[in-house]
Amino acid sequence: MSGRILVVDDEENVLVTIEAILRMDGYDIDTAGSGERALELIGQNDYDVVLTDLRLEDMSGQDILAAIRQRSPATVSVMLTGYASLESALAALREGAYDYLIKPSDPEELRATVRRGFERRQLLRRITRLEELDELKSQFLSIASHELRTPITAVSGFAQLAVRALEERLRASPPPDPSWQKELERLVRQLNVIQDQSAKLGRLVRELLDVSRIQSGRLEFRLAPVDLVQLVREVTEQMQLGAPGRSLSVRVNGSSPVILGDRDHLEQVVGNLLDNAMKYSPVAGEVSVFVRTKGDEAHLTVEDRGMGIPTDQLARVFDLFYRTEEAESRRTPGLGLGLYITRGIVERHGGRIWMESERGKWTKVHVALPLQGSPAGKRLEAGEVPAAREGAPI
Ligand SMILES: Nc1ncnc2c1ncn2[C@@H]1O[C@H](COP(=O)(O)OP(=O)(O)OP(=O)(O)O)[C@@H](O)[C@H]1O
Ligand SMILES: [Mg+2]
Repeated sequence: MSGRILVVDDEENVLVTIEAILRMDGYDIDTAGSGERALELIGQNDYDVVLTDLRLEDMSGQDILAAIRQRSPATVSVMLTGYASLESALAALREGAYDYLIKPSDPEELRATVRRGFERRQLLRRITRLEELDELKSQFLSIASHELRTPITAVSGFAQLAVRALEERLRASPPPDPSWQKELERLVRQLNVIQDQSAKLGRLVRELLDVSRIQSGRLEFRLAPVDLVQLVREVTEQMQLGAPGRSLSVRVNGSSPVILGDRDHLEQVVGNLLDNAMKYSPVAGEVSVFVRTKGDEAHLTVEDRGMGIPTDQLARVFDLFYRTEEAESRRTPGLGLGLYITRGIVERHGGRIWMESERGKWTKVHVALPLQGSPAGKRLEAGEVPAAREGAPI
């Protein structure tokens, strides 16, 4: 174990004893016989643990604590105190000291306390490093998705233009040679594949951008009254076009709730939930959307009779990039972005989202959104952004 430790005390014998005990454990030790000397050393070095007497002749242990906090907040400080100043030791703990030792301290207790402090310091280091990596990951996500957007739009746009131009040509003056005609038709099909695939890529990049905006709290919203049933019907009809064999139904209980929301993002919510319901249930399986008003909220439920989700994974499916083992093993396409984004959008509306499921049988995803004019709806209207979920992964 190698760690850098500073011991501050104006009693020479205390310094010598502690130094001797801790040196046995392989630490690198500096000692300071005065507060002034301690501040000098703290300014020059990055210590893992600082042990300091609470009452020095030229300053108090609290002053040392303050200097440490300023210079390297991750340094762990341990206060050395006599029985008489136990009160001040407790005050020091409140101000951020990690622990205290009563003098003269038992060597084993001293070693254990320093070891714990050192381990804590290692942990803090690791956390800082992980936070830096996390920040880097967010930056990468944001930059990469921005940079990818332009070329994808160009590829998809030009492929679309080329298809149109070729088709028009073929219609206006079919080539005299039939093999030419076939060749050109094949080209049109290939261009259509390029267009389809780049549109898919475009959607993916848009989703990654959404993730990065949710993480940084910059998801843009244009709020307006939204008739939820109308919106749900529109999205469902749109999805039905892409899956003609499916039975998609919308059921409404009572009158249609009106909420204050961002139409595009709410369409994304319904679209993502329907996409999942269809993706994770048999092709012939029925998918239903229920809408109703309950108290101050509009409730929307998307239900399917598909593979379901094991209970222990129900909360995790909202995590970024999380996919159940079953979804992975069946090779159902997806990245695990949909529910993360959906939750981000719902929460930004002051709403809630949760799931119920029985493995191998059914899944219900519930969304509750505040009605326009309700207290939460009014807060949203006044521009109060609902607080992000604590501990939400970034
Ligand atoms: N209706 C459902 N039935 C069963 N499992 C589901 C359902 N909806 C979501 N899941 C599980 O939750 C995981 C996360 O869903 P999410 O929508 O976030 O990602 P995805 O569908 O895998 O990919 P993406 O939405 O990015 O295309 C899925 O991979 C799947 O394991
Ligand atoms: Mg999905």
